[in-house]
Amino acid sequence: METEKKKTALSLIQPSGTITLGNYLGAIRNWVAMQEEFNCIFALADLHTITVRQEPAQMRKNILDAYASIMACGIDVEKTLFFIQSHVTTHAQMAWILNCYTQFGELSRMTQFKDKSQKHADNINAGLFTYPALMAADILLYQADLVPVGADQVQHLELTRDIATRFNGLYPNVFKIPEAYVPKTGARVMSLQDPTRKMSKSDENVNGCVHLLDPPEVIMKKFKRAVTDSEAVVRYGEGKDGINNLIDIYGAVTGLTREQIEKDFDGKGYGDFKTAVGEAVVEALRPIKEEYEKLRADKAYLESCYRKADEIAQRISQRTLSKAMKKIGFVQ
Ligand code: TRP
Repeated sequence: METEKKKTALSLIQPSGTITLGNYLGAIRNWVAMQEEFNCIFALADLHTITVRQEPAQMRKNILDAYASIMACGIDVEKTLFFIQSHVTTHAQMAWILNCYTQFGELSRMTQFKDKSQKHADNINAGLFTYPALMAADILLYQADLVPVGADQVQHLELTRDIATRFNGLYPNVFKIPEAYVPKTGARVMSLQDPTRKMSKSDENVNGCVHLLDPPEVIMKKFKRAVTDSEAVVRYGEGKDGINNLIDIYGAVTGLTREQIEKDFDGKGYGDFKTAVGEAVVEALRPIKEEYEKLRADKAYLESCYRKADEIAQRISQRTLSKAMKKIGFVQ
């Protein structure tokens, strides 16, 4: 069978707020594109989100919003497993086990831990520190071949490979060693207010971040206020982070190349260009928003989707967990 030869690609996203344009263009759109070629497994990493304090009602809402948003982006639950991490008990179990095969020194070197413990200096909890072991569990439980991740997660994936290799050295053939998957197209969307930094929902300036579900007029306003430079030429170049970012966003949603965009806006000002980018983004997001509204209104359907996926994920992951536990010496 054709399907049996497909490689397994796996990735999770934290539902720690709304889905942003950066999440969509940088990650989710690639997930959507991968569904044909690979056997895909995606999930909401809700267990990861509590390494930072969450407000309960807001967290519940964020998880369901994210599930519906990602489906609306084009994740097809008929062919892709798309589940909620906390609903599948093996993740926390495997994370504990992997914690015991991960060194303090290794975790101390994680740049994300260093960054986050600076940012949340009042809550440097153990979960924040051992977070990569949970991420390794997410990946290794499903014997994933490929893991599409952004640059900020490459170090965690390397650690996952080290943990798996070490474990297999002690107990052979338990885990497949996963590889990073760098998608052919993957826009790295930067903040509209500080284009040297990645677009983030935690941006201090709300105008820096476009959310998938922002109303059109809000999207337009954010693009019109985007930080640019004083050259007033729509051209890709050094020291033009703002314009470079807008060109990349425009290219990502229209499919135009940088050269085509530069040509189309030759002689035009930044005002015209910002309006064009805003309008193109609004158009690209319109069908997603419509689909989202439909899905989000049908709670029963949404629940049936994740319940089904949760069960399948539980079954698949249990095989790896049982195998690992047996090899370690737990009584079956
Ligand atoms: N740590 C990832 C992030 O913050 C999310 C994540 C959790 C993940 N588990 C994963 C990504 C497994 C890839 C594979 O972006």
